[in-house]
Order: sequence, then C-alpha cells, then structure tokens
Amino acid sequence: MDGFVHSAELAARRTSAAARDTNVQDGRPRASLNRPSAPASQPPRPVPRQPAAAPSMANDEVEQLAASCNSLDELARTLDAFDACPLKRTATQLCFADGLPDAHVMIIGEAPGRDEDEQGRPFVGRSGQLLDKMLACIDLDRSSDDPARSAFISNIVFWRPPGNRKPSTSEVVMCLPFVRRAIELAKPRIVIAAGATPAQALLDTPTGITRMRGSWKKITVGNGEIDVMPTLHPSYLLRSPEAKRFAWRDLLAVKAKLLAM
Ligand code: URA
Repeated sequence: MDGFVHSAELAARRTSAAARDTNVQDGRPRASLNRPSAPASQPPRPVPRQPAAAPSMANDEVEQLAASCNSLDELARTLDAFDACPLKRTATQLCFADGLPDAHVMIIGEAPGRDEDEQGRPFVGRSGQLLDKMLACIDLDRSSDDPARSAFISNIVFWRPPGNRKPSTSEVVMCLPFVRRAIELAKPRIVIAAGATPAQALLDTPTGITRMRGSWKKITVGNGEIDVMPTLHPSYLLRSPEAKRFAWRDLLAVKAKLLAM
C-alpha cells in the first residue's frame, strides 16, 4: 500500500476524528458544548469566539489538489490557501520548507514549533540548531547553493500544532499528499525521516523509531523510488544526548550512500 493508510480507512478516521473534535450540528468544538449550561437566573456567559471550522475535504480531493501542483512554489502557494487542515486555524502561518530544493538530501521532521511558527521556516529553534550541527558532521549545510552539500528541509505537517503537541493521525493524513508531492517535485536522492511521526507516515508502518532507525527503506513517489533513512528526532536527542551515537551512525550511513551514488 503506497499511502499512510488505505483511503477507506482514512475516510473513516477523518470522519470519526471530526466527530470527536467537533459537534456535528454546528461544527463548534465539543468542549464548549460539554460545559454545564448556566442557571436561568444568571446572564449567559459570553462564548469565546472560535476560529471558523476547517472546511472538510475528502482525502482523494486533497491528493488531487497536491498532484495538481507542478512546482514547489505552486505547492507552497496551494498550501497557503488550503483551509482544510485544522492546524492552520491555530498557527500563525504556513511553515513549508527551508534549504535548497535541489539538494540531494531532503529531511522531513515532525511539526513546526513556536520558533518555526513565528518565522515560517522549519527547524530554526533549538532542534534546528542541533540538526544543523548534525548535518555539518556529514558536510551538509542548508544554506549552501551546492545540491551535493545542501539539504532541503520540511515537516510531515505544515502548521504548528497547538502547544507543540504531536500532530494527530488525521492531521498527518491530511498533509501527507502534500509531503509526498513535495518529495516528488524536489526529487532528492535520499530522504531522512527525523522522528517516529514522519518515519511511520512516510513508510506506512506502526513500527517504533528505535527499531526502525538505521536501516534503509524505500518509498515510491510518482514514478520513482527514493531511499529513506529513518533516524531519531533532534528534539529527542536534546532530551537524551546518550542516543546521539545512534543518530551519528545513521548520518554516516547517509554520507556513505551519497558518496556511492
Ligand atoms: N521540530 C520539527 O520536527 N520540525 C521543526 O521544524 C522544528 C522542530
């Protein structure tokens, strides 16, 4: 199966996620309706204004929309105008990609955090600083103009989840056609999936990242296959520096493959 989950399952998940998160009658978050209503004698409490609910969109429509983009610029513009991902309602702005689109290596992280949300660029906060150091260890630098020395960096979702929580399955599923199209358009030689969320989504597996990391996988995008190296997320490495040696091994494998290509 090429996608993250089968489209029928996707549809079912999306429907149930939507039903869980919102009231089906008026589309407002369920939490506001679960509050006990005020006794009749008291004036009604003002209801905080909610951002408009994201319009629903079937997964095959999202796939078609992503497939209709013929360049990364067009993909970024389309995402900027895309209102169906609920994360967009709480994020400051789209955070699509950074680095060199022609780079031989593309890195897919989990989700923008606060700094990325502010700047609209992936991996610019503390995890990004560590990512840059990790890349420097294998002679890569996202600011380089040389495709062999640069990196193209994005995330598995394009808007910051509130409070930096992990993106939900339905949010990942909604963004995945755009991520896959970005890979197809950028045509990297290698994708590094940094962390469990992007690795599981791209490789369509529930396997944990500690088991998955370090071994090459392949994904099919468009008409081609791309090598994927799952590895540990920089923010995990900030919390567990003793695991850096595993990420180091994974990066050496990336370097070796790049040199052999
Ligand atoms: N963590 C990520 O996964 N992506 C970012 O862009 C920043 C932090």
